[in-house]
Parts: sequence; structure tokens; C-alpha cells
Amino acid sequence: MVSKLTDEQIMIQSMVRDFAREVILPTAMERDKTREFPAANLKKLAELGLMGMMVPAEYDGAGADAVAYVLALSEIAYACASTAVVMSVHNSIVCESILRFGTEDQKQKYLKPLARGDFIGAFALTEPLAGSDPSRQTTSARRDGEHYVLNGTKRFITTGKNAGLVIVTAKTDPAARHKGISAFMVKKGTPGFTAGPMENKMGLCASDTTDLIFEDCRIPVEDRLGEEGMGFTIAMTALDSGRIGIAAQSLGVAQAALDASVKYAKEREQFGQPISKFQGIRWMIADMATEIEAARQLMLSAAAMKDRKENFTAQASMAKLFASEMVNRVTAKALQIHGGYGFIKEYPVERFYRDARVFTIYEGTSEIQRVVISNHILQDKRAF
Ligand code: CAA
Repeated sequence: MVSKLTDEQIMIQSMVRDFAREVILPTAMERDKTREFPAANLKKLAELGLMGMMVPAEYDGAGADAVAYVLALSEIAYACASTAVVMSVHNSIVCESILRFGTEDQKQKYLKPLARGDFIGAFALTEPLAGSDPSRQTTSARRDGEHYVLNGTKRFITTGKNAGLVIVTAKTDPAARHKGISAFMVKKGTPGFTAGPMENKMGLCASDTTDLIFEDCRIPVEDRLGEEGMGFTIAMTALDSGRIGIAAQSLGVAQAALDASVKYAKEREQFGQPISKFQGIRWMIADMATEIEAARQLMLSAAAMKDRKENFTAQASMAKLFASEMVNRVTAKALQIHGGYGFIKEYPVERFYRDARVFTIYEGTSEIQRVVISNHILQDKRAF
């Protein structure tokens, strides 16, 4: 259930909306072309407290709730989806994992600078041969005295090149399945840790996605996050929050596509009148708006459950599943409404269409969300 937004949530939404549309949006198209990492924007986001949004003030964060966070994130996605995904992984996966599973020393050492936006966080779970099934990852972390020695390759890591700190999962017990996985915090510049070349992606072009390579990379024991064997639980817990964030990104892009379509349909004339007068266009706009509203409610409901400290795993997957599939339908309709102009890069809907495509894939495919949801509904695990 979603209750009325609080004054504070409305204030944050309105502040971020103004900022995103005035500062971030005007250069989004250019960034998509140049693939330049939005470092300057992220610095401004940090100044506004948006890089440690749900981190308490005692750790230099803004202490906002999850509802305010998803409202803010969808406003950033409205302006620039590439900037939004960096903000999303940093906040909902990296900061939250350290807040929840880190020791006091780790929070002082890593969470505080992350929350201030001094450097950006990344999360490395996926591997070349372990995507939907991260329990079969093979990156190893061998204990050697007061260090772990990491070896292996992580794949498709958001902010892989630009992150100052990466949470990496690796097998401390190769014989065990998920219980053999541990999590480590690895700083940029640690010997034996390098980022591969940037992937040449279809969308989200200004956010870097790279391999991360670990070759005899020595990590002090004090930089292990959680106990040995807790890495999979840390990752799954983080992904619950991350998935609400993908719903927020989807919502922002979909709303931008709808707004662009409404503007275009009112301006574009054919057969002697604006195309917004035609029922074929009006029905598309009605369907787009309805689906966006449904996704918004699912997103807010999952975030509110999180704020109430209820188990929101299934609701996060529902919000992610519906919103990410919704934005693909909505951006396709937006492109159709724009006709030939939708297919060229002078109009933003072409970028929205490309940016949205990965939302049904990363942080768990639509198929994985259906596994999570059906497990919850049936109260019975699927047999792989
Ligand atoms: N919260 C806490 N713990 C959880 C959990 C959750 N939501 N879901 C599962 N667990 C725990 C279980 O309780 C279990 O623990 P115990 O054995 O101690 O009881 C353990 O995890 C294993 O659970 P399962 O046996 O159910 O796990 P599984 O191996 O069958 O996999 C899965 C379940 C849902 C398929 C999971 O593997 C999954 O989510 N896969 C998709 C991975 C994914 O989303 N990858 C995205 C990469 S990150 C990314 O894209 C980030 C980016 O850069 C943008």
C-alpha cells in the first residue's frame, strides 16, 4: 500500500526534478554521442546529497527514505539514464551493502567518502560464465595470512573503469555453492586489479561497462565485507534494493518518452490537424500513461515496504519486471508516434528506446524476476 507522499518526499522530488531538467538534461544527448562519463554531474549530485541518499547523517549521508530515493532517481533518469544507472548502483547496491553488512571501521573508511561522493562505487558479481546463476562464479579468493588473494574476471560491471571502490564477490570455498562466496571491497589502484576496455553498448552510452580483472590481487582481511560465505546473501540483499532502482530508472525514461510524445503529437500536423486529434495516437498516449502510472505505484509500494522494514523481495522483482517491460513498450510507442523523426538522433526518443533495452536484462533478467516472484507465490522453490 502506498500512502500520501510526505512534505519532505515532495520537496526532494521537486528539487531533484528542477536540478535534473536544468543541469543534466541539456547535455544528455551530447553525452550519448561522446560516451563521456558524467563525472561533473555526479559531483553536483553529491553536493545535493544524492550519492548517499539513504545513508544516515552520522555517515555523511542524506538520511532519506527509500520512497524519496526512488522519486529522486526517476527524476535523474528522466534527464539522463546513463547518469541514473551510476547513481543507482552507487546508492542502492554499494552504499547500502556497506551500511548493512560493514563493520564500524569499514563504514568510517569507505561508507563516509562514498556517501559524500568523494569516489563512486561499483558492484562486481557477474562473470563471463555466470550471469543469471552467480552461484557458479569462479573468481577465487584464497586466504594467505592476513590477506586474500583474488584471481578471476568479472564482466559487464557498471562504472567498472570509473569506480573508486568495487564490492567484488569471490569463492573462498570453491567446493561449496553459494555458501562458498564471500564479498570484498577493492580500491581502485590495488596492485593486480585492472579494468578492461569499455564495452561498446547499444544504450546507456555515457555509463562505462567493463570487465574487471584480478590477478593475484591481495586484499587485506579487514576489507572483507561480512563473514566468509556471506557474499551471496549480501549480493541478493543488495539486488532487492537495486531492482526497485531499475523500476525507478524505467519510470523516468518512460515519463520522458511520454512527455516528448505528447509535445510532438500536439505540434505535428497531418491531414490538416495536429496528430494528437487522431484516435490512433490518443489511444497510444492513454495506454502509455496508464502503464506508467501502474509502474509508479508498484515502485512506490515496494519502496514503502522497504521503509517499513517488511520483506519486499517479491515486490521489488514485480516492480522491476513490470516497469522494465513497460518502458520498452512505451518507448516503442513513443518512437512510432514520432514517425520518421523518431528514428533519427536529433530527437531524444531514439535514445530512450536504446537506453531502455537493458532494463529487462541487468540486475536480473525478466525471466529471473519471474523465478523470484513465482518462488514467493508458490512458497516452493523451482527446480533448475
Ligand atoms: N535476500 C537475502 N537472501 C537471499 C535472497 C534475498 N532476496 N534470495 C536468496 N537468498 C539466499 C537464500 O536464502 C539462500 O540462503 P541459504 O542457503 O542460507 O538459505 C541463498 O541465498 C541461495 O538462495 P537460492 O538457492 O534461492 O539461490 P539460487 O542460486 O537458486 O538463485 C536467483 C536465485 C534468484 C536465480 C539468483 O541467483 C539471482 O537473483 N540471479 C540473478 C543475478 C542477477 O540479478 N545478476 C545481476 C548482476 S548485477 C548487475 O546487473 C548490476 C549492474 O551493474 C547494473
